[in-house]
Amino acid sequence: AAQAFPRSGGLLSCEQVPLTDLVSRWGTPLYVYSAGAIRERFAELDGALAPVPHLIAYSVKANGNLGVLRTLAAMGAGADIVSGGELHRALMAGIPADRIMFSGVGKTVHELAAGLNAGIKAFNVESEGELCALSDLACAMGMRAPVALRVNPDIDTPTPHAYTRTGHAATKFGIAAARARSLYNIAAKMPGIRVRGIDVHIGSQILEVGPFRQALEYVLDLAYHLRQSEVELEFLDLGGGLGISYEGGDRISAADWAAEIVPAVAETGLQLVVEPGRFLVGEAGALLTRVLYVKEGGGKRFVITDAGMNDLIRPSHYSGWHAVEPVEAAGRERGRVDVVGPICETGDFLALDREMEVPRPGELLAIMTVGAYGFSMSSQYNQRTRPAEVLVDGKEATLVRRRETLDDLVAAEIGL
Ligand code: LLP
Repeated sequence: AAQAFPRSGGLLSCEQVPLTDLVSRWGTPLYVYSAGAIRERFAELDGALAPVPHLIAYSVKANGNLGVLRTLAAMGAGADIVSGGELHRALMAGIPADRIMFSGVGKTVHELAAGLNAGIKAFNVESEGELCALSDLACAMGMRAPVALRVNPDIDTPTPHAYTRTGHAATKFGIAAARARSLYNIAAKMPGIRVRGIDVHIGSQILEVGPFRQALEYVLDLAYHLRQSEVELEFLDLGGGLGISYEGGDRISAADWAAEIVPAVAETGLQLVVEPGRFLVGEAGALLTRVLYVKEGGGKRFVITDAGMNDLIRPSHYSGWHAVEPVEAAGRERGRVDVVGPICETGDFLALDREMEVPRPGELLAIMTVGAYGFSMSSQYNQRTRPAEVLVDGKEATLVRRRETLDDLVAAEIGL
């Protein structure tokens, strides 16, 4: 596999573009994505699923940049969306409506209507209340809403952080396993509903195939019983969650995953839908930041950068670990440092207690593996403009989102 961020002669590049060139053009902090790496990962998964009819519905929440979405749309990706805003983006990027899955526990009536109007493939319904609201709305609009119920199989998934565990019963997600069959039978008789599939999503950053297999067994059993009671199905949606490598260990392999899943799905004759986010884009992104100051205090050495928790919240919110690389390796002495941002919060850090080449003020650092849940979770906290985003394809670099301006920060405020 080609490397998204190769280093040669000490200098880190994205594909064939030195990161220093990108910074001279667009400054820091800067998100950089490799289109080649995204395509390669999509092709790997697509190939592994080839034995069955399938849809890779990219989870837009991981990275909704239109350039990223267009790159995936061109490969034949669909989208897994969780809001009207994500629907808008997915359609703008040219993802066909009939490849869009609408997930999420709290869809408003406006969002349901937008999905119906667009003609999406299915709503992944997460509660009885939502099912009734959707049926009523569809009837009023003279339509039938295509639906899968998101079932909660009560699997305690091994994810690195409790906040990304969604498959056990005591989370807000999905419909309780015990209730699923009866609700399907009700849904099948609702005038505004057309049952299309079964949906499950058990968590994020899962590095083992076992939990997916467990979820599949549950879904297969449910599918069998539904077919017995003449509820017709078209697809099984196994959600996202495929884990990637942050610290250099093994990521989940699409082939291993598929080996456990695909044969059993093939027997059902149903379409397989998956909703990966991180797996497709996580390793394809880096955040470039400039060191402002280096200072010592309390027995610690702090490297203060121009990117902070408002740009990348994973370290402080999930104790997420991201490699920090010097953009230009200078062979400096190594030391233990905290890489911290400019935000007025003790929780504002990108890396803690990190053994690395101690950088000097003015030098550039690359925070790695931030293509997923990086920019998409960024904010303007402390009235900081959000970073620009660049998509690199071979020798070509394209600005796919300009840096925000101070005017952008106040643009939505009225009555001034
Ligand atoms: N489908 C559903 C219904 C989801 O809730 C999610 C993620 C996905 C698919 C995609 O999951 P993925 O393949 O990316 O693991 N912000 C956290 C991750 C939150 C995931 C939320 N749901 C993080 O930075 O680790």
